[in-house]
Amino acid sequence: MAGLCSGVAVVTAQRRDGEPCGLLATSVSSFSTAPPSVLTSIGHASRCHRSLIESAEFGVHLLRADQEGLARVFADPVHEAKFGGLDWAWDEAVPELAGALAYLRCRRSALFELYDHSILIGDVEGGRRQPGEPLIYLDRRMDWRVDRAGGGER
Ligand SMILES: Cc1cc2nc3c(=O)[nH]c(=O)nc-3n(C[C@H](O)[C@H](O)[C@H](O)COP(=O)(O)O)c2cc1C
Repeated sequence: MAGLCSGVAVVTAQRRDGEPCGLLATSVSSFSTAPPSVLTSIGHASRCHRSLIESAEFGVHLLRADQEGLARVFADPVHEAKFGGLDWAWDEAVPELAGALAYLRCRRSALFELYDHSILIGDVEGGRRQPGEPLIYLDRRMDWRVDRAGGGER
């Protein structure tokens, strides 16, 4: 799977104690178009797992090319204060990080348990998109850059 090129996302939810939680995930994909929904797969070992499967809503943030540092914070299994010092706010019950390439507020519509992961599907109820290039994960690295044939911004 190291040869599969993917975007990089931070998936967030509200914990039972009211605090925000989030983890880095590359297992995010579009699921359906009508209604628009997305899918992600969350490992049972993640400290966010319980919050994500119990919350009615969760957030998906597609990261920008210059957000590798943020990605590493959310991939850290022992970091105790991932949101400390970050620009974020509650969007209903979803922690919304500022500055992502795209943010989707999702309402959980399905949950499947298998092996050591849970698959979450959420209907997209809100969000925003801003200009920029995506952070890309390939060959266990995140330092790739989009180079369009012909160049230029879109
Ligand atoms: C590139 C990359 C992609 C990852 N994708 C996923 C994923 O799709 N699902 C998942 O559960 N964990 C994924 N992880 C692992 C979590 O980000 C990691 O276990 C994190 O520490 C969990 O945070 P938490 O324990 O605070 O919830 C990924 C890690 C990296 C570095």
